[in-house]
Amino acid sequence: MRAVGVTEFGGPEALHVLDVPDEPLGKGQVRLRVSAATANPTDTFCRNGSYAHRDPVKEFPYVPGMDVAGVLAEIGPGVETDLAVGEPVMGIVVPTGAHGGYREDLVLPIGSVARVPAGCSDVEAATLPMNGLTARLALDRLALRPGQVLAVTGAAGAFGGYVVQLAKAEGLTVVADASEADEELVRELGADVVVRRGADVADRIRERYPDGVDGLADGSVQDAAVLPAVKDGGVVATVRGYEGDGQRDLRVFPVWVRQYAEEGGKLDGLREAVEKGIVTLRVAAAIPAEQGAEAHRRLEAGGVRGRLVITF
Ligand SMILES: NC(=O)c1ccc[n+]([C@@H]2O[C@H](COP(=O)([O-])OP(=O)(O)OC[C@H]3O[C@@H](n4cnc5c(N)ncnc54)[C@H](OP(=O)(O)O)[C@@H]3O)[C@@H](O)[C@H]2O)c1
Repeated sequence: MRAVGVTEFGGPEALHVLDVPDEPLGKGQVRLRVSAATANPTDTFCRNGSYAHRDPVKEFPYVPGMDVAGVLAEIGPGVETDLAVGEPVMGIVVPTGAHGGYREDLVLPIGSVARVPAGCSDVEAATLPMNGLTARLALDRLALRPGQVLAVTGAAGAFGGYVVQLAKAEGLTVVADASEADEELVRELGADVVVRRGADVADRIRERYPDGVDGLADGSVQDAAVLPAVKDGGVVATVRGYEGDGQRDLRVFPVWVRQYAEEGGKLDGLREAVEKGIVTLRVAAAIPAEQGAEAHRRLEAGGVRGRLVITF
């Protein structure tokens, strides 16, 4: 079975097609035949070895990838599901060693899998699980009430875009950042107010909300620089572990999507949100497995809008 991974850590060129054995299918698990696997920023750290120290598997190959779509190929023992073999499904992967999203044969817990949204291709569906669940988790933990104001940075990105769309559907007022080139996109996602992105984004948000916003989701990973946008007593969701500076009465918490990796109901809720038109899926390009390195090259160059999806 083909996979795209590394046999030594390195730059994008270290990624190549590998032959890997089928994964064993255990209790509570299902087997997928993956046809589409999204390239996300975190995958580049798996590829270059930055995450190797915290991976319990200490041998090559390493296969990156946290979200996939394909077909349900086999249902393991003890699985209760209304999904049938042959159905198009999408899933979230917690990668470890050779177990990552960029592989044709993939075994996942049933709670990590849901039906593909009706009318969506596998390439489109693959863009949803990981960033959709991270957005869901951030909003659940922020726990703002309808009418409260949420600021979103990195709003043109995958995580930020989903946060904007889900937050609007839940009745929040959304102020989001964008470059001039992304302003129309971010408005289309539903942001009520768009401010220019950059190092001074907190000042720009304060210009529009002088008392500060109730909550903030920091998709651009600006950490301490965005805290001044938030009012005393406000909440901030961060995505790379930042926990705040403890200097003001703010609740700053990192979100880790692994916490929702087996929340099948939440994943299915995202499917529904797509089918209702609340969430839209954005694909930059579909890239054949043999050119997987190109997906990482483009991702690391920055400025990609929509996801790059590796296809098998
Ligand atoms: N903790 C978790 O479980 C978890 C889960 C999902 C994602 N994440 C993390 O969340 C972050 C966002 O992920 P993503 O997939 O949404 O990435 P993305 O699609 O690349 O979006 C990030 C957005 O932020 C913009 N940006 C980058 N630096 C900026 C800056 N200094 N000022 C303003 N805007 C800036 C990017 O613009 P350019 O493209 O122009 O640079 C892009 O539009 C990543 O760091 C990812 O690793 C964490």
